[in-house]
Amino acid sequence: MANAAITANGRVRILADGNEIPLVGLGVWQVPNRRECVDAVRWALELGYRHIDTAQAYGNEESVGQGLRESGVPREDVFITTKFFPARKDPVAEIERSLQLLGVDFVDLYIIHWPEGGPTWAWPGMERALEAGHTRSIGVSNFGVDDLGKLLATATVAPVVDQVQFSPYEYRTALLDAAGEHQIALEAYSPLGTGRHLTSDAVARIAQRHGRTPAQVLIRWCIERGIPVIPKSTHRERIAENAEVFDFALTADDLRGMEYVYNAFYKAGPDLNYSFSGIPFALARSRTLKK
Ligand code: A2P
Repeated sequence: MANAAITANGRVRILADGNEIPLVGLGVWQVPNRRECVDAVRWALELGYRHIDTAQAYGNEESVGQGLRESGVPREDVFITTKFFPARKDPVAEIERSLQLLGVDFVDLYIIHWPEGGPTWAWPGMERALEAGHTRSIGVSNFGVDDLGKLLATATVAPVVDQVQFSPYEYRTALLDAAGEHQIALEAYSPLGTGRHLTSDAVARIAQRHGRTPAQVLIRWCIERGIPVIPKSTHRERIAENAEVFDFALTADDLRGMEYVYNAFYKAGPDLNYSFSGIPFALARSRTLKK
């Protein structure tokens, strides 16, 4: 957690603007805007989650809001993220619509979902959304090192988060370093590889040693880097399992095992320190729509 400021209980990261983001949140990508989403959010909050991550593109903000209300957990106790859908033009108009759908007065974090059309054009609108009090923090998602550089060169208010796919299989060391230099917190989506990484032998061995599940090991791997992480599940028992990651620690041996995963799959695979806007649009879009 070299660069990350974490609160004393080890469960919350302090962002560069002073706002606090719980390290584990519930992701609701691909959860339909109906009872399934309402229940997932309600269960998560009942089970102690205080961080929910949605997006305009997911089309389920209404159900997220309903789940929040049904849980009875006070709004001010929950960190809510939504994402600007960059096929639209105006981040302020879109967040105002999100707030209506969510039934809240502000979100905690508003991020550009991906750098469609380039990494800078939407940022003034994000700054206006912050200024208007529609969000407490602003950030980006799926931005590569080059995108961050271009954005930082023009931004008045710097982004405090870059939410990207991140796991031992997608270990973006260059992006992690660049973000750290600028006090931008990387946040991990798809920490379970949308389920694919759960069958890894290396992860299973570590899980067995700790009497834990592969999902818990993968989530813990992020937390030990101070990286907020948003595993998605619509099953109550899995939602519970994914948050039970604060009472064990990975050992140096475990991390070497993870290193093996990194070496075998990441170094041999595509360079994930890519500039998102620099890759062909269809590929960029399919990567983005994956989450
Ligand atoms: P489900 O929603 O049916 O529970 P990611 O967070 O990397 O996108 O991964 C999400 C996928 O992993 C979903 O398919 C989800 O399925 C599954 N999943 C989430 N948590 C667990 C868990 N603890 N054990 C097994 N599968 C899980």
